[in-house]
Amino acid sequence: MATENKVIIVTGGGSGIGRESAYKLAEQGNTIVIADFNEAGAKETVAQIEKSGGKATSYKLDVSKAEEVEALINFTVETYGTLNGIFNNAGIGLVKPFLEMDPASYHKVIDVDQHSVYYGMYYAAKKMVEIGAKGVFVNTASIYGTMAAKGSFNYNAAKAAVVMMSKSAALELAEHGIRVNGVAPGFIDTPILGEDKEMKDYLAAQHMHNRLIQPQQVAEVVAFLFSDAASAINGQTVPVDDGFLS
Ligand code: NAI
Repeated sequence: MATENKVIIVTGGGSGIGRESAYKLAEQGNTIVIADFNEAGAKETVAQIEKSGGKATSYKLDVSKAEEVEALINFTVETYGTLNGIFNNAGIGLVKPFLEMDPASYHKVIDVDQHSVYYGMYYAAKKMVEIGAKGVFVNTASIYGTMAAKGSFNYNAAKAAVVMMSKSAALELAEHGIRVNGVAPGFIDTPILGEDKEMKDYLAAQHMHNRLIQPQQVAEVVAFLFSDAASAINGQTVPVDDGFLS
C-alpha cells in the first residue's frame, strides 16, 4: 500500500539515493521538498518529478547547520500547511587512516552524517507535535554503521550513531504518532563512490550478486518504510546490502 498525499522532506535529494527515493515517493502521490546543498541537483530532481506529473519543490541548505534545518521545517509547513515525514539522507564520506584522522576530518563527517539526522528529527518532531501532524522518519545509515572499515573511523562513528538514534527516537515518538526507521545500504552506484573503476569493481564483488546496488533498489525500501504497509516496523534499520553483511 502506497503512502499518498503526504508532505515529505528528502535531504540529499539532489543526487543518488535521495533523488531516486524522491521520485518513488512523488510517484505515489506525495509532495516532496528536495533539500540539498547542491541547488542545481535539487532543481533537476524537482523538474523530473514535475515532468512526471508529481509535486515537488527545492530548498537549498547545509544539513549540518541546526538553524538551517529548523528553517527548512518551517518553510515546509508554511508552504504546504503540514509535514508528514523526513528522509534524513544527505551524507558525505571522507576516507583517511586513523593516524591522519585530525579533528577537522572527524567533525566534518560527524556534523554532516550524524548531527544532521538529529536536527532533522528534532525540528520535524517538534513542529509535527505542535501542529498535530503524524508521520514517518527514515534515516540513512550504512553497513558501516555496524561493520568497521579501514579509513572510516569518522563515518563508522556517524553511521553507528544513526542506527541507535533511529531506535531511540522511535521509542519516544511512537506516542506522538511518528514512526522512525532507517536503511543500511551496501555499496550503491552513486557519485559518492567516486570514479575509481578498480575500487568500484572491488566493492561490487562484496555483494552476493557481484554487482553494485542501484539507488532505485534502496528507494523501493525507503518508500515501503514510509508507507502504512510498514506500520508495525519501528526503530529498525533495514539492510539493503545484497547480503554483504550475511
Ligand atoms: P550522493 O553523493 O549521490 O548524494 C548525497 C547528496 O547529499 C548530494 O546531493 C549532496 O549534495 C548532499 N549533501 C551532502 N552534504 C550535504 C550538506 N551538508 N547539506 C545538504 N546536502 C548535502 O550519495 P548517495 O550515495 O546518494 O548518499 C546518500 C546517503 O547514503 C549518504 O548518507 C551516504 O552516506 C549513504 N550511503 C551511501 C552508500 C553508497 O554506497 N552510495 C552506502 C551506504 C550509505
